[in-house]
Amino acid sequence: MSLHKERTDILIIGTGLAAVTTALHVPGTLSVLLVSKGGVTESNSDLAQGGIASSYLEETSEAHKEDTMFASNMTSCSARVDILVEEGRQSIEEMERFGVRFDLEEGEYALGREGAHRAHRIFHAGGDETGRHVMRQLRQSLSDNVKMLEHVLVHDLVMKEGRVVGAMAFHKEEVLHIEAGAVVLATGGIGGLIDWTSNAHTVTGDGLVLANRCGAKLTHLQRIQFHPTLLATDEPHLVTEALRGAGATLVDEEGNHVMAHHPLGSLAPRDEVAWVLTEQAGPIYLDTTTVKRLRDRFPKLALTCDKLGIDCHRIPVRPGLHFHMGGIEVDDMGRTGVDGLYAVGEVADTGVHGTNRLASNSLLECWVFGKRVARALQLHDSSFTSSETMAYDIKPDDFRTLRHQIGKWLTISPSLEEMKCFLQNTQSLTLTKHVTRQLSEQTLQLDAARLLAQSILEMERYDEHDLSTRTAAELFD
Ligand code: SIN
Repeated sequence: MSLHKERTDILIIGTGLAAVTTALHVPGTLSVLLVSKGGVTESNSDLAQGGIASSYLEETSEAHKEDTMFASNMTSCSARVDILVEEGRQSIEEMERFGVRFDLEEGEYALGREGAHRAHRIFHAGGDETGRHVMRQLRQSLSDNVKMLEHVLVHDLVMKEGRVVGAMAFHKEEVLHIEAGAVVLATGGIGGLIDWTSNAHTVTGDGLVLANRCGAKLTHLQRIQFHPTLLATDEPHLVTEALRGAGATLVDEEGNHVMAHHPLGSLAPRDEVAWVLTEQAGPIYLDTTTVKRLRDRFPKLALTCDKLGIDCHRIPVRPGLHFHMGGIEVDDMGRTGVDGLYAVGEVADTGVHGTNRLASNSLLECWVFGKRVARALQLHDSSFTSSETMAYDIKPDDFRTLRHQIGKWLTISPSLEEMKCFLQNTQSLTLTKHVTRQLSEQTLQLDAARLLAQSILEMERYDEHDLSTRTAAELFD
């Protein structure tokens, strides 16, 4: 075996929606390498059927939040759910800007409904092939700074002085040493570890192991979700919950509705339905006789049933492993606490899903937190080789350049936390002081400039003579 070296600013392990969203949103000045263990399209995102939940068309995100909390038995982190549902309102429009087309009916969005949602708010594409359609379009939208490499088995992350600086992998006949300014784990969950799963077989918890070896904290690993309806045939296929949203019911051999006791019937939260089905002695079927235009709305399912000789009006189902809510503990920007290491998507425990994820919140999580990780990467304090956005290489006297950098940042409206992170990485006190003045002169997005000033004031190590007695408003008004 020969040794091959690669160098990239950002290494993303995974090629599903979390990985691709991150790659789409980092600045084009950074080089990004996405690697997949199998083929690029062998991700759970590509297999997604139901769609993406978003309150885009609702007055507020409140009901979406309530449903998310309720489905999780109130165990989700409320503040993180706020981020998910509120930033998720824009996700549909944002994906459309990258060319994604969601299904329409008579010119309006054709919204689906799934378990524990009290409203129709699931945007889908290609009927029940949302993942394939969305991923194909988003991957096509990646810019030239992003490279993808298939069949790369990452077996270890490389650490230097407490920070992650790359990865070691096998790629075909080569050992690959990938040097990176930062590494993002987007490896998905654990479903591929067992046969009875809706997941891609490549999804085997690799990210958890890699993170754990570097000292990252793993949380809530016991939180595993079973999807109530996989096809009860030799090879399990997901039978989307959207089918129940369109009117299908879960029945036993005699045609009795097995969820009749629950106020939400067959659309009760996933954990409850899966539990009831597990307790049933005999076979369970999805009765789809009341579903309108089944073949148009669920073409993939209809085709699968035809191939397997199954009557698509009476589909045999049983629960199977579907989603891992636990994972690598991250902050709200996907930072793992290990310098240089980020996690996003199913491998991360963002806290938004609690003990039971609300249907179709997972693609949403990938999008919302993928964007956040991209923002955190812009603020990352490593020496990205091709970075123009870092404060790192800027000479203390070069205010013009720095102003330009910060101006770019302000267009992405960084939070106070991000601003602080930037300032902590900025070596010179004088430099920071001048930056605030420059910003003030330029009246560059005043609110953001105020945030910057506030964060300077909050940081003890800054020049007390000049700043400690002044408020942010005094500095800029
Ligand atoms: C489904 O289509 O039933 C799966 C959707 C999800 O897991 O969010």
